[in-house]
Amino acid sequence: MSDPKIVKLVDESSNRSSELPLISGTLGPACIDIGTLYKDTGHFTYDPGYGSTASTKSAITYIDGDEGVLLYRGYPIEQLAEKSSFLEVSYLLLNGELPNKTQFEGFEHEITHHTMMHEAQKNFFQGFHHDAHPMAMLAAAVASLSAFYHDDLDVEDPADRKLAAIRLIAKMPTIAAACFRYSVGWPMRYPRNNLEYVTRFLHMMFEVPSEPLEMNPVAAKALDLLFILHADHEQNASTSTVRLVGSTGANPYASVAAGITALWGPAHGGANEAVLKQLKEIGTPDNVETAVKRAKDKNDSFRLMGFGHRVYKNFDPRAKIIREMCHKVLAELGVNDPLLDVAMKLEEAALKDDYFVERKLYPNVDFYSGIIYKALGIPTEMFTVMFAIARTSGWISHWIEQHETPGSRIGRPRQIYTGAGVRDYLPTAKR
Ligand code: SDX
Repeated sequence: MSDPKIVKLVDESSNRSSELPLISGTLGPACIDIGTLYKDTGHFTYDPGYGSTASTKSAITYIDGDEGVLLYRGYPIEQLAEKSSFLEVSYLLLNGELPNKTQFEGFEHEITHHTMMHEAQKNFFQGFHHDAHPMAMLAAAVASLSAFYHDDLDVEDPADRKLAAIRLIAKMPTIAAACFRYSVGWPMRYPRNNLEYVTRFLHMMFEVPSEPLEMNPVAAKALDLLFILHADHEQNASTSTVRLVGSTGANPYASVAAGITALWGPAHGGANEAVLKQLKEIGTPDNVETAVKRAKDKNDSFRLMGFGHRVYKNFDPRAKIIREMCHKVLAELGVNDPLLDVAMKLEEAALKDDYFVERKLYPNVDFYSGIIYKALGIPTEMFTVMFAIARTSGWISHWIEQHETPGSRIGRPRQIYTGAGVRDYLPTAKR
């Protein structure tokens, strides 16, 4: 009887076999360690999209897609959404434990005193065309941080890694607000250290020289909650990108800038912007049936943005929270958005339709978030920037965790080659 912790794999065509250990974590499915497979059998594994592949061990976030469970360092997202704050959740993701009062005050003080951009960095924005997409500006500006901060680029030094994390979490709202201000032709605003993290961001976004800004606590609370919900999500495409870039020894700013560009795609973080555009295209609840029909038509590339998920085959727990929050925030802000009616009708129609039920396609985190951002006065092109501000805490936590994991190596997948066999070069006259 072979060790229950071993999976034996036999290639019957060559009679070569491999005894592969099963690795289990704290929660979730066991994984087959295929590290010796190629040596034992001469075969690679093939899993485009990584639907059945664990790329790493991690203690940061756990997702159970069938049960709709999301834990940050073991704490259920529902409890953190109700009781915590984005800055406290950022501390938790980075350090693995919730902070006590002294630890939180120290962390908040560090973040608050690293919020300014280098003054020269403001010139970057002048080089962009007036209608540059904010995600393009954000990616460029974050990558350029490595041109300004040489003093914290020793990726092997824990103190440098921590300083870079503080700088990224602190400066992301400042840079994001600068992207918005440039796109609307307003003068940039310096961060106000007497404001808390999210309120400070809203101030940098919307305060204009000609009049004081009436800060709305409902807006700050709603945005803080959205940031909590978007802070991390296991090995999603952008986090995996940050890890892969980080595995080469690249500095944290370059690694996070790569994550920003990966997030931009409409299949990922760009979905929240795509959802709003799609709801506007659908226009009224009466057009929902046609939209659902198009989404099911294999000859039509149209998909319901904000629906489906690689991992969640049940409701995305974040979508449930945001959905409830949507109604509450719009009521508190006195906003009546007809797009909410379209979204609710779309959700109702899809969840009753066999095509979506059979494929377990439910609303994801991006389906309702845009309606709240819109109610807060944030323009559609800035929605994915909001996602990036929040996910920076997750990205840099994973980047640090990878550096702290002994034996971490550069990520370098293999492939199935389908190109031409070996052939000799032909002179032009013979082609
Ligand atoms: C995020 O990974 C993460 O954790 C990401 C994220 C995070 O926090 O980091 O959760 C954030 O990116 C959420 C997802 C946002 N993207 C969208 O809302 C875009 C719309 N959704 C789809 O593009 C799609 O559902 C994905 C990209 C989210 C998931 O793609 P998969 O897992 O590769 O699924 P698939 O394309 O294999 O789809 C399975 C079936 C297919 O039909 P069949 O081939 O079986 O007939 O479902 C269909 C798909 O055509 N399908 C959809 C659909 N999504 C999947 N059909 C219509 N509308 C959709 N939205």
